[in-house]
Parts: sequence; structure tokens; C-alpha cells
Amino acid sequence: MDFPRLEDLGDLDGRRVLVRCDFNVPLANGVITDDLRIRAAVPTLRYLLDAGAQVTACSHLGRPRGAPDPAWSVEPVRARLADLAPGVDMLENLRFDPGETADDPSFVAQLVAGRDAYVNDAFGASHRAHASVVGPPRHLPSAAGRLLAREVEVLGGLRTSARRPFVGILGGAKVSDKLGVIKALLGVVDELIVGGAMCFTFLAAKGANVGSSLLEEDLIGECARLLDSGAPIRLPLDITALGPGGRIGDPSAGGEVRQVGTSMPDGWMGLDIGPGSAVEFCDLIAEAHTVLWNGPMGVFEDPRFAAGTRTVAEAVANCRGFTVVGGGDSAAAVHQFGLAARMDHVSTGGGAALELIEKGDLPGLAALRGEHE
Ligand code: 3PG
Ligand code: MG
Repeated sequence: MDFPRLEDLGDLDGRRVLVRCDFNVPLANGVITDDLRIRAAVPTLRYLLDAGAQVTACSHLGRPRGAPDPAWSVEPVRARLADLAPGVDMLENLRFDPGETADDPSFVAQLVAGRDAYVNDAFGASHRAHASVVGPPRHLPSAAGRLLAREVEVLGGLRTSARRPFVGILGGAKVSDKLGVIKALLGVVDELIVGGAMCFTFLAAKGANVGSSLLEEDLIGECARLLDSGAPIRLPLDITALGPGGRIGDPSAGGEVRQVGTSMPDGWMGLDIGPGSAVEFCDLIAEAHTVLWNGPMGVFEDPRFAAGTRTVAEAVANCRGFTVVGGGDSAAAVHQFGLAARMDHVSTGGGAALELIEKGDLPGLAALRGEHE
């Protein structure tokens, strides 16, 4: 896709550059638990510093509602950034101002005042038409940073130039969040594996009794139509389920854990793909020349329901083809399993990665191309 790159900004010596990053990192009691998104922006920040620019980074953090909130101060991010990219200034949380999410022209004017150029390296936020994402390119010479450009090359490339066989793996809780992506992927993949809680709506569409598993009843018809269309959707054949009385994340609460077929007794809740399905999925993954994985196969945070996600993660890591992990929970899973370095690309974007795969474009990219609403 065509949009301006860092090199297109020309001589940056002494220029004041605003860089929109996605430093929306997970925090626990004010401590960053995963700094991937900060590390991922360093190549862009280094390029600008090496070119002699005065660099100011900015980001949102969490979802404060347009007013300062000490719980969402960027202070921990600023401290980490000072270690990783000394010499970069950082603005306070953009979402402390209601103008950010509203794309308010007066907030954009504040952001661009006193700056000579703008760089968007916030892939994970580029699906938001917010002031700091779409506003500055209306006023300043603008370019995509290294991270944004790489994400678009990899994820956008899956739609147009993936080597086949191309195996997509989708999981996570809801079909409703991923219907657009499912349809887009069915146009390009050879096999689409569906696990995670979203598989239960598909299994119900095939007539299975899914017990107390998560089910989106209003989408059963849509799932049935997709299955009837002959789309290459691969569903689990066995499920790891938790019996009545059990609680997710709390083995001490009791409740039996058992492998069941795709139909389960009333009161049982499917929480992971079963071992037979995992093996079958691994065979498909091993043959793939391209793999895209987005969404865990089960509730991997609970060790009783982690095996499916772990087995699939290992299969993707071992695949000799080009392997891409969408952001969000599946990225968290590969980090938790220590497998991130064995993937070809782990995206820093969750919603942005899905939207790019679905639509082939993002508001932040359109803005860089000069297409202003
Ligand atoms: C994310 O973490 O998905 C991005 O930073 C976007 O955050 P948002 O969903 O709050 O807009
Ligand atoms: Mg590989």
C-alpha cells in the first residue's frame, strides 16, 4: 500500500517531530507487565533521533473519559521510554482531553502547534479516527513509522500475496466480533480453523448441544449459512469441558474436567478444544506455507484449559511457513509460552489487526495518504 515513509520526510535535522505511538500497555498496580509496544516503537524513534530531530511521543493509555485521571497517567510509560529511547519527550495521556476521541479540530491544533512533522507509528490505534491519528496529516508533512509500515506490509499482504496453503486460525470469545474477519479470510485461506468459545455457535449451527458453553443464538443462522456454503471451516471434534459446580480460574471450587465430543450434557461448559482436535489442527498447520492466528483456543489463563492454545502455539512456532500472530490475547499467549521469538510476526495491534485484515485499510492510513474526511 502506498503511503509516505520516514525517508519521505527529508532532512529532519533540528525539526520538531510529533510521533503518535500506541503505548497502551497492560498495567498492574501502576507497573507495566508487558512493554512490547514500547520496544516496538524504538526503531522509529531511533531513526528520528539519529536524523537530529527533536522528538515528542504521544499516546493514549486505557480509556479515561476525557478528563485527567491519575490512574491512567503515562508516567510509567514515560519512565520506560526514557530507558529505551533516551532524549524522547512524551506528552500526557491524549485521552485526558475529550478532543482526542472526538477528533476535535482545536485539539488537533494544539497537537500540531510548534511542530514541523508528524509520524504515525501507532498501528494498534490506527483503526480509531481520533484526533492524534487522523488530525495531524491535515496540517503537517506526515509519514508512517517503521512499526506501522511493517504491520501493514505483513497483515495487508495476507489479503493479497500469501503463499499457499494458507491456514487461518481464529479463536476468542465471540463470533460477533469476528464475522467480518471470518468472511474476509474465507476469501483468501485454504483452511479456516475455528476454536475458542466462538466455535460453540458454529457447533450449535450443526445441531450440537453445547450445554452451558458461550453461545450467540442470534448468529446460529449466519454460522449455518457459512457452513452450508461449503466454506473450508474446520471445527473441533472434541472439547475439554468443565462440569457443574466448577469455576473458571478456580480449580479449588471443584467441578469435573472431562473431554467430551461436540455435544455435551446440560450444565457442562466447553472451555478448550480437546486433544484430538489439537492434533488435527496441528497437522493442517504443519503443512501450511502461511499461517495467521488470532484468538486463543480456550481459556488458557486457567491451566486446566491451556493445552489447546499451547499445542496450537507450538505448532505455529514449528511451522516452516510464514507465521503471523494477531495481537491481543493470542499475542499474550505466545509471550506467556515463550514462543514469540519463533513467530515471523507478532502484531502489536488487536482490533487494528482485525480491521486491517477485514477491510484492507485503516483510518490512520487513509489520513497519511491525504484522504481527509
Ligand atoms: C488497543 O489496545 O487495542 C489499542 O491501543 C486501542 O485502544 P482502544 O480500544 O481503547 O481504542
Ligand atoms: Mg516459520
